[in-house]
Amino acid sequence: MLRLLSRKVITIGRSKDALWQKPVNFSSAARNGRLQGKVALVTGGANGLGKATAREFIQEDAAAVILADIDSQLGREAARELGPQADFIECDVTDEHQVAAAVDFAVSRHGRLSILHNSAGISGPPSSPDVAGLNLADFDAVMGVNVRGTLAGIKHAARVMAPAGSGSIICLASISGLMGGLGTHPYAISKFAVAGAVRSVAGELCRRGVRVNCISPFVIATPLVVEQFGKIYGDVGRERIMEIVEGLGELKGTKCEEADVAKAAVYLASDESKYVTGHNLVVDGGFTSYKFLNMPIPDRV
Ligand SMILES: NC(=O)c1ccc[n+]([C@@H]2O[C@H](COP(=O)([O-])OP(=O)(O)OC[C@H]3O[C@@H](n4cnc5c(N)ncnc54)[C@H](O)[C@@H]3O)[C@@H](O)[C@H]2O)c1
Repeated sequence: MLRLLSRKVITIGRSKDALWQKPVNFSSAARNGRLQGKVALVTGGANGLGKATAREFIQEDAAAVILADIDSQLGREAARELGPQADFIECDVTDEHQVAAAVDFAVSRHGRLSILHNSAGISGPPSSPDVAGLNLADFDAVMGVNVRGTLAGIKHAARVMAPAGSGSIICLASISGLMGGLGTHPYAISKFAVAGAVRSVAGELCRRGVRVNCISPFVIATPLVVEQFGKIYGDVGRERIMEIVEGLGELKGTKCEEADVAKAAVYLASDESKYVTGHNLVVDGGFTSYKFLNMPIPDRV
């Protein structure tokens, strides 16, 4: 599908000092071929951010995108919907053998793996904010998918990318892994660990030509978040939950969408980011960049 690409630039001011330009009417939604020839494996690709990213990879001319997900029904439907470049393999990322098999499937079918996008993740049950009441079985389950599953992906992608001397691995962290208090303890700890895992392996992998980065998105109303908020607010309906989620951001006039994460992933997957590794690309509209001092109101001091 070809979409509009237009960039009209108007020059503001005429003096030498006013040589600045204001870009207007910019749409970057066109097919640009930024991933031409690349083969991608997307864990958690059946739904939410993984599926949106797979769609964007295909629009950027990826040669093949394999969705690896525990949900085989949704995964098959997603692959059908995304068209002939998409394929599906059932994969539970908590089982290392299944992750290894998904990587091997990509290589045997397409001769290479250029991109691993680790998007499989769970939020876990809404647990007690009180750490003394933490259910460690819930913690293990979340860590099993979000951290161990991500690490298994990094391990097996590195196994095939390092001998080829190139590749881009992208992991989904979160704003919950940047500041405390934004998620349940298991989820937040898991996302701090994902960002840490990226840092830990980036140094080794860069010497072998493989880049590894993560993306930390703001809250987006994917199925994961709608389900999580549903557990908090009860039966208020999907529309109301979407409104609540969309009202949480700080950046005026816009909201965080699946496409924002997908486009960040395209950048990290493409050669445009060829010198970027060990990076945490925060897509949060400034949310974690500031905090105001909790000062008392002057006339009350
Ligand atoms: N949506 C957000 O607001 C948000 C914000 C920050 C980070 N994230 C992270 O982005 C990633 C994607 O989240 P999402 O919102 O798209 O969630 P989602 O629930 O919409 O999609 C997650 C996908 O992962 C799959 N999955 C779950 N467990 C799996 C397993 N064991 N093996 C393989 N696949 C498995 C699910 O079947 C699903 O298709 C997650 O890592 C999440 O923590 C999401």
